[in-house]
Amino acid sequence: MIFSQTAQALAAHIPLSVDEIKGLLEVPPNLEMGDVALPCFQLAKQMKKSPTVIAEELAKTITTQGMTCSAAGPYLNVTFDRKAVVEQWLSAVLEPTFGRSNVGKGKRVIIDMSGPNIAKPLGIGHLRSTMIGNALYNIYKVVGYNVVNVNHLGDWGTQYGKLLVAYFKWASHDAIKESPIQEYLRLYVQFHEEVEAHPELETQAREWFHKLEQKDPEAYRLWEEFVKESLNEFNRMYERLDVKFDYVMGESFYNDKMQAVIDELQEKGLLVESDGALVVRLDEEGLPPCIIVKSDGASIYATRDLATAIYRHETMQGEKLLYVVGGDQILHFRQVFHVLKKMGYDWADECVHVPFGLMKFEGKKMSTRKGRIVMLDDVLDEAVQQAHSIIAEKSNNLNDQAGASEAIGIGAIVFGDLKNNRMNEINFSMEEALSFDGETGPYMQYTYARAQSILEKGSFEHVASIKGDHLTAASAWQLLKHVTEYPNALIQSAKLNEPSIVARYAIELAQLFNRFYHQERLLVDDAEEKQAKLTLVEAASRTMAKCLHLLGLKTPRRI
Ligand code: ARG
Repeated sequence: MIFSQTAQALAAHIPLSVDEIKGLLEVPPNLEMGDVALPCFQLAKQMKKSPTVIAEELAKTITTQGMTCSAAGPYLNVTFDRKAVVEQWLSAVLEPTFGRSNVGKGKRVIIDMSGPNIAKPLGIGHLRSTMIGNALYNIYKVVGYNVVNVNHLGDWGTQYGKLLVAYFKWASHDAIKESPIQEYLRLYVQFHEEVEAHPELETQAREWFHKLEQKDPEAYRLWEEFVKESLNEFNRMYERLDVKFDYVMGESFYNDKMQAVIDELQEKGLLVESDGALVVRLDEEGLPPCIIVKSDGASIYATRDLATAIYRHETMQGEKLLYVVGGDQILHFRQVFHVLKKMGYDWADECVHVPFGLMKFEGKKMSTRKGRIVMLDDVLDEAVQQAHSIIAEKSNNLNDQAGASEAIGIGAIVFGDLKNNRMNEINFSMEEALSFDGETGPYMQYTYARAQSILEKGSFEHVASIKGDHLTAASAWQLLKHVTEYPNALIQSAKLNEPSIVARYAIELAQLFNRFYHQERLLVDDAEEKQAKLTLVEAASRTMAKCLHLLGLKTPRRI
């Protein structure tokens, strides 16, 4: 609020737009100097005066109610009259629609997220796509986009030829009954071990994938089994993470849509032969060629992604296509988007790859080939178990310990991921993520529960008017100012496809709330003062819950 209100007040007096002014505004180094500062250096050229003179003149001319302006050298400092604005701001942030905006203008966005590969466990790597995608999905909705998400399952490709060969040779049916994904993974690993000594396995795998592409009944039936078993497992995980999909459409969905793409590329003169394969050259773009059909005639990931993008644009009416996929696929998406561009699809400019860095888990990387994989299920179980022992120690009269442990354990993992700038490589430490102090999920949830318990103890009720004089202390004022910035955090986060902006906003909110809680006596005897303070607690805790829900965390009322 302070930024937009200041910018609006200043706009009448300086030759810049409200948005330009907003971009210049800063927070002064300490609260005594004011709430916002305008550095006047940039204006000097335009207004042909020295920054100091500009600041002085502005200080004199601006007489907006509720604001006091003063010059400090080349800076114009603005101080809000706390008493005058507190009431109005509090009622604004308590509106149920607070945070909603219409920057998305109903534009239809399709978010490609999660996309695990069939017959392999959902690893910690897919967790990032799932959680970043889920947060963006929620945030985009609130800022006014018409958004749907799609789980683009990796259910097609030459690797299923390999799995078929391994299945016929080495599968244990008992093991499959017991734990299908584990057994598929074991088969996949065995294939890669054996192929080194027996290169003919590679040829067989190619043949079996070819059969699968021809819908050979035996190959197809087994493939269907792989898909079914995998989805069972994935769905269990999505349920735990509370993630829902509007569409689950695997790569195989595009099997009958690829020939049209190949024909179109051919017609547009974009396909050339290279070592027996058909490729689109991307020399002008400075990229390696994009392979469309392999030399053995098998279809390929990139071709499926071309068909997918066209389908999402034309049939699903997506105006903006977002792909939340790891940074190791940056080249792939650049190639795909450039090929679309070459086909004459200008909407390719609205295709955005949202990459993210690698997540190592206690120093270990994910690699399915070697069977060294960090299993999401295990990670979640471990987190929940640890959360449980912490809670058992901390809280004595909690009814739903199991529910709270699940919420906190999973919240710790999710928050531990999302608080990082998405491109950062994360070395995840369970101990750190589960700590109740520090910038963690449990800290956030605990702060929320603390706020709830204060509201309960103080029998908070909404009162129509709040006396601003009770909320003028520095800690209350800082907290309220931060609460009012919530809508901006969402807009920024959607603009940069960066859920960490919401997470960092929430961390600061929790810190400011805790400062307010420690510095002020909240449950005072004076009813009017108590209700005013509790109203601020309510505003902060509501905003906190909104942030956590957007990020995919649950907020138990008691911990
Ligand atoms: N299945 C792929 C993988 O695990 C991710 C799919 C991403 N989405 C896409 N449209 N290519 O690497």
